[in-house]
Amino acid sequence: MKIRKNLTPDNIRRQSCCKKNICSGRDSLYLYFLFDIFFVASVLNIPIYMNILLIGSGGRCHALAWKIARSPLLSKLYIAPGNAGTASVGTNVALKPNDFGGIAEFCLQTGIDMVVVGPEEPLVRGIRDYFAANPALRDIRFIGPFQAGARLEGSKEFSKAFMVRHHIPTARYRSFKASEEAEAVGFLETLQPPYVLKADGLAAGKGVLILSSRDEAVQELHAMFAGKFGEASATVVIEEYLEGIELSVFILTDGTHYVLLPEAKDYKRIGEGDTGPNTGGMGAVSPVPFADRTFMQKVEERIIRPTVDGLRQEGIDYQGFIFFGLINVKGDPMVIEYNVRMGDPETEAVMPRISSDIVELFTATADRTLDRQQIAISPQTATTVMLVSGGYPGSYEKGKPITGLDRVTDAIAFHAGTQWQDGQVVTAGGRVISVSAMGGSIAEALEKSNRNAALITFEGKYNRRDIGEDLQRL
Ligand code: AMP
Ligand code: GLY
Repeated sequence: MKIRKNLTPDNIRRQSCCKKNICSGRDSLYLYFLFDIFFVASVLNIPIYMNILLIGSGGRCHALAWKIARSPLLSKLYIAPGNAGTASVGTNVALKPNDFGGIAEFCLQTGIDMVVVGPEEPLVRGIRDYFAANPALRDIRFIGPFQAGARLEGSKEFSKAFMVRHHIPTARYRSFKASEEAEAVGFLETLQPPYVLKADGLAAGKGVLILSSRDEAVQELHAMFAGKFGEASATVVIEEYLEGIELSVFILTDGTHYVLLPEAKDYKRIGEGDTGPNTGGMGAVSPVPFADRTFMQKVEERIIRPTVDGLRQEGIDYQGFIFFGLINVKGDPMVIEYNVRMGDPETEAVMPRISSDIVELFTATADRTLDRQQIAISPQTATTVMLVSGGYPGSYEKGKPITGLDRVTDAIAFHAGTQWQDGQVVTAGGRVISVSAMGGSIAEALEKSNRNAALITFEGKYNRRDIGEDLQRL
């Protein structure tokens, strides 16, 4: 489907003819002009006014929805299931991301022209394959890989072996099954502490353990094999610990070509100074000062190009985002992990920096014409500061009324875990609101993020106040 179903040339012609009788000469000229535009658009394969379904619900989803909603190519945006923030830029639909049947039915009923998948789980479970297998859904443009490509994130064992096959720099590793526990301990002993253990499968972002002593590592290894992360840790990857600063690099690829999106650094620990337990992410900064031209050239030559080429060589058709979790080891980039989606909260800093029309980029991604696109990126710095519920990442209460959202002026409050309840916006998750702002420097952007973050209140609110400070010291 290249143009909206109800705006095909035939329909336009029909509408024009019906209206002719009641229109003035000038009106019919206008209708013929409109018809010509749609006819030319359909012949040239130019998409016009698309209905888009975005799947997801967190801060990443609101940032994507916000960006999609700014596109002149958009007709209607639906978000499944969305949150209180996405409801302000589109229509939320009460469908779960893994309800493929429900999503498919909605797409057919509503005339959806493009599906954009935010989180990894539906991709790893094969939502793209589900659409491709159904002739009625096959022509809907789809942003997100097939199950085969989603294994880059869905299986650490697969992604590590892929990197080795394509000579992509990554930490030395071996993977083991539960029946190979003795050999796994033997490999562990060849490594220096700290020890890195990774559950092979998806484990809600908790499947990586970094342990400082050998005994702890052996104990955790045993627990993983015994089902600490269920099926996900039936296979465990053990790898060398890499020392350096991490950054997140993103591309949109059509399977052959790619556009490089703005990179970002996220802050994973709950406490200031990067202390305490890991979270989904407490803030982000884009651009990353050490990701200069020389560094990014290495990233493209050694990592991005071999990944895109490697997928193609292996017959893995891929249209969507690839998120390279990288670490800068003394000036050389190495891959910590792949994700088949955008990062959260990185997206909340990345989207405001993209000046190009994201729907145009998505269309070219789905149509495999990304080589004809250029991406325009703002030279400004974007920062985002995450406001979280008291107790997060441990247990926390939900349903706390949020006030002050209307006082945010020179920033954007991207909703993460929020919902409407009895006429007010309340907390509905651990990460609640991500406050993004732009400025001429990290300091300027942060001042806005922090000042606006202070205006938003809810019981138990917590946020880090040192986001980006390490980058300012570099
Ligand atoms: P992952 O889920 O693979 O991104 O791992 C979660 C976090 O663990 C990463 O963001 C890193 O901070 C850390 N990590 C993973 N692998 C390594 C490694 N080989 N060396 C150092 N840190 C690592
Ligand atoms: N911020 C890291 C992630 O989205 O996985």
